[in-house]
Amino acid sequence: MTEQKPIGGFFELEVPRSQHSFHPRAIALTNGRACLNLILQQLQPQKIWLPFYTCDALLQPLLLNQISYEFYSINPALELARSPALGAGEYLIYINYFGLKTRYVEQLTALYGGRLILDNTQAFFERGNGKNWAFNSARKFFGVPDGGYLYTPESSVFDYPSNTKIGYQHLVDRLLGKQPQAYAEFVTAEAALTCEIQGMSLLSQTLLSTVDYKAVIQKRRENFQTYHAAFQALNQLNWQVEGQQDGVPFYYPLLLDRTIERRSLYQNQIFVPTLWQDTLNRGIDGFQFEQKLTQQLLPLPLDHRYSTPEINIVIRTLQNILQP
Ligand SMILES: Cc1ncc(COP(=O)(O)O)c(C=O)c1O
Repeated sequence: MTEQKPIGGFFELEVPRSQHSFHPRAIALTNGRACLNLILQQLQPQKIWLPFYTCDALLQPLLLNQISYEFYSINPALELARSPALGAGEYLIYINYFGLKTRYVEQLTALYGGRLILDNTQAFFERGNGKNWAFNSARKFFGVPDGGYLYTPESSVFDYPSNTKIGYQHLVDRLLGKQPQAYAEFVTAEAALTCEIQGMSLLSQTLLSTVDYKAVIQKRRENFQTYHAAFQALNQLNWQVEGQQDGVPFYYPLLLDRTIERRSLYQNQIFVPTLWQDTLNRGIDGFQFEQKLTQQLLPLPLDHRYSTPEINIVIRTLQNILQP
């Protein structure tokens, strides 16, 4: 028997209600790690191949399930430097880097079929292709406390209770303009995330149902082009976002020939993440290119909060820093 919902009394947060979702056919879980944890429990792999250029959060479900793994290298196109031949029970995780490797994912799918697990945490707008396992992470694209959509190769039914222990104070405080406090709360909320397989919180489901996804996609693409026009000649990575097949960008990935102090950007209220500090702390040799990416690649913000005036501020600030 389902529990009777409270009727009357004080109000909950006032948000529009709708069933709208960008991923209606996916399984809505609480985060990317929960999705991968579920995939691993289903597949019980002997071994996982994964890129060295990733964060340690991706390793957590592997460690939890005691699955052996091996890192592979990527080349300057952010594609596999060499494609390993997979033995029995082996699977390969590929990250659709910056949401811009959608064409390459098709090639990899042709090569590895169902042995490919797609990490779409940087490619929220990719839907399942019915061939691979794939998952994303809503927090990285929207102001929501949790959420990750899981696609399975065959239609499967999984039903988990929604996560109710989510940190959302940072979202409210940033909205209220309390930036330093919100940042501290954001760090705490991120640190509390686990691999536990739970459904997406009702708060995130509700907030995500209100997003104008078409407008978000368009804004990200436009902002990308503004950066590209300014930095194409300096960028050591060569990108294209001309058509749907080129994907929807996560950030504008600017790889310079030197390291820019993030502090000089923060002083101008420009916040650029480091992807991923973990590559410098693993104590494993042989991944110099990945470590160069961590040190020198600037992921420039281009999300739907911003338009040409803000993007131009970032461009001008960087150009001033780069001037000899
Ligand atoms: C490449 C990559 N994969 C997977 C994850 C895990 O996603 P989530 O934080 O939603 O568990 C992250 C981020 O933490 C990530 O950067």
